[in-house]
Amino acid sequence: MRTPIIAGNWKMFKTVKEALAFADAVKGKAEVNGVDTVICAPFTQLASLVEALKGTSIKVGAQNLHWEENGAYTGEISGPMLQETGVEYVIIGHSERRAYFAETDETVNKKVHAAFRYGLTPIICVGEKLEEREADRTKEVCKLQTEAALQGLTAEQAAKAVIAYEPIWAIGTGKSSTSADANDVISYIRELVKELYGEEVAKAIRIQYGGSVKPNNITEYMQMSDIDGALVGGASLEPDSFIQLVEGAR
Ligand code: 13P
Repeated sequence: MRTPIIAGNWKMFKTVKEALAFADAVKGKAEVNGVDTVICAPFTQLASLVEALKGTSIKVGAQNLHWEENGAYTGEISGPMLQETGVEYVIIGHSERRAYFAETDETVNKKVHAAFRYGLTPIICVGEKLEEREADRTKEVCKLQTEAALQGLTAEQAAKAVIAYEPIWAIGTGKSSTSADANDVISYIRELVKELYGEEVAKAIRIQYGGSVKPNNITEYMQMSDIDGALVGGASLEPDSFIQLVEGAR
């Protein structure tokens, strides 16, 4: 059985002070047996959050990394730098990074390899734009993105990766995918993983849904056969709502 995973993606929100107040408020509460809980925060908060959440089951993740170990890449952060902060996860290929920061399938793949090199679990984002959905290209887009992201990974690595299916039209819009539609795409992604790596890896890899997930719809997604949790933006920013999301994934 796959352990469900709820990950908050804080995007560009919160100061260190605000992050620490959040950590205090969710300690002992956003901790549920049988659910993995992760907070993906901006770089400046990572070390403090890891420290504040020591001894809890809540893990910390970053939202990006560069694939090189070091070098003349102004403004970038590398795997060893993240590893040193104690984070265990890193979001890779979020649609906002693809749209605003020129992230491509190729850089996503390099970053996924870099994550594994430094012992980080990648949360790999894939998903279609509204016009792609309307043109009935959802599965084709997800196939290209998933295959590119996983290229060159060993079966063992692929089994450990997390994929987040986030239809772009559902992000921050309040327009969530129906649980049936999300499950249909996620089952399709799992089929792809099976074709690439075989049944065992397909059964092990965790695939989340993301896009306007809230405390009032989380259980609907969690009831679906192939949805293993959620990657949550807006609703992960308030302690009460985050706690409810984690409880809803039980
Ligand atoms: P919202 O939950 O705010 O729609 O954001 C989803 C998302 O982009 C998570 O990575």
